[in-house]
Amino acid sequence: QPMRELFGLKTMEEQLKEQFNLKEVVVVSGDTDEFSWVKKEIGRATVSCINDLLQANNIVAVTGGSTLAAVAEMMNADSKELMPLFVPARGGLGEDVGNQANTICAKMAERAKGNYRLLHMPDQLSKEAYSTMMEEPYVKEVLNLIRSSSIVVHGIGEAFTMAKRRKTSESNLEKLKEGNAVGEAFGYYFDEEGEVVHRVRTIGLQLEELNGIPYILSVAGGSSKAKAIRSFLKEGHSTILITDEGAAKELIKGI
Ligand code: F6P
Repeated sequence: QPMRELFGLKTMEEQLKEQFNLKEVVVVSGDTDEFSWVKKEIGRATVSCINDLLQANNIVAVTGGSTLAAVAEMMNADSKELMPLFVPARGGLGEDVGNQANTICAKMAERAKGNYRLLHMPDQLSKEAYSTMMEEPYVKEVLNLIRSSSIVVHGIGEAFTMAKRRKTSESNLEKLKEGNAVGEAFGYYFDEEGEVVHRVRTIGLQLEELNGIPYILSVAGGSSKAKAIRSFLKEGHSTILITDEGAAKELIKGI
């Protein structure tokens, strides 16, 4: 029985790799929507993936969310001699403190016995404030570090779940509805075709900058996230997907 299950997961990984043209796919058993321990397993699988990729002095950029918090929870010091530096990918996306990129970043560094730099930004920045912040020497320095990341580890969420969690304004909710948004990652909202329909204005990694980063680890599970995951994978920004059986089955079915 366990062998059969293993075979099933391997088959799904191979299938998804081809389907979305990815370097690597890891599918853990179960469905996050049903059992919370599955998220922990996703966390464990992600940590082992990070540790396999890490080289000396690498910079690792991370986003927020409960899945990334589970990754931080599982982080270990297996690669401590490599002195990884952790940075938040983007600042201020409207998460509770425990699920903020800064918190997760600091926790990962602490557990990995690495270093970290933080980016404290208000959630909603006006155009003027944004431009002013961009001129701050500290911000510039951290932004340069973020852009030199070798590995980015990020979550993906269902568009309206995320919009509600961020207490998005009525007018922006309208924009998401009109644009048929299904997925969200890095503060960008995507429709089913992977087109950006809205973005949160915040400092940090911009979507186009992902192209210059060697490893993008997309980490998300649960059958209810399948559409969202697909919307992000469509545009080809991801290189490695770490997910669960629940989402994998739906992604393969094409729902
Ligand atoms: O807000 C940060 C973030 O990474 C989003 O980009 C993503 O949609 C969300 O968190 C995922 O959150 P969770 O892992 O809790 O579903």
